[in-house]
Amino acid sequence: MASPLPEPPLSRLTVLISGSGTNLQAIINACSSQLLPNTSIVRVVSNRKTAYGLKRAENAGIPTTYHNLLEYKKRFREAQDTAPRPVDAVDEADTVARNAYDADLATLVLADKPDLVVCAGWMHIFTNSFLAPLVSANLPAINIHPALPKEFDGANAIARAYAAFQEGRIKRTGAMIHYVVRDVDRGEPIVVQEVEMKEGDTVESLEERIHVVEHELIVKGTGMALARLWEKRDVDKEKDEEANRPTTSL
Ligand code: GRF
Repeated sequence: MASPLPEPPLSRLTVLISGSGTNLQAIINACSSQLLPNTSIVRVVSNRKTAYGLKRAENAGIPTTYHNLLEYKKRFREAQDTAPRPVDAVDEADTVARNAYDADLATLVLADKPDLVVCAGWMHIFTNSFLAPLVSANLPAINIHPALPKEFDGANAIARAYAAFQEGRIKRTGAMIHYVVRDVDRGEPIVVQEVEMKEGDTVESLEERIHVVEHELIVKGTGMALARLWEKRDVDKEKDEEANRPTTSL
């Protein structure tokens, strides 16, 4: 009889959201199945107070945090209001606020000691104030994007792909899970799937088909990123052991 496969290591996820959280729900469901074995979500963070995903997390007993950018902008603008300032000072205050917001987000995320950060519909562009502390902590982040690599980066990707289809420029679009880097939606793809565009499609029918694909990909991509992570940790451990092995002298 074949021996059972070894249990995968315990994996901790932090999920970042901004909206309805259907992708988050797919991860929650997968964590209680064999699709993402030994995996748990340690926190869900939203940059929108009313994001329905927060409710989904609460229903699943997952700790949640609302991280509010507007509050940072207000605080930093008020601080500048007390001093004489140049014409573009509000923009400058917003940049400072944004960096402080991202730095605090990194601190908040790292405090839970997750193995992987999953951006599941997180509608906020990261600055290095968030990314650099994650890189230093060897904590990877992945993102879902409803388009194929190097096509329709950024917001409203589905609507832009639909417009391109109507103009006869493309016949398919897709969805992907990729690593997060500074350039929006340009990190290394982990898993990619094409979605056919059909005669008579409306933007809504296309969106619906893409969402179905996304819910599978977010689970698959999370599993693949975790598998790569554990493989890398094994290799690093072996290298460390090799380097620390005492040499026998003759
Ligand atoms: C998804 O289509 C994702 O690709 C995009 O935002 C949407 C989030 O949906 N960036 P949900 O909040 O997971 O339902």
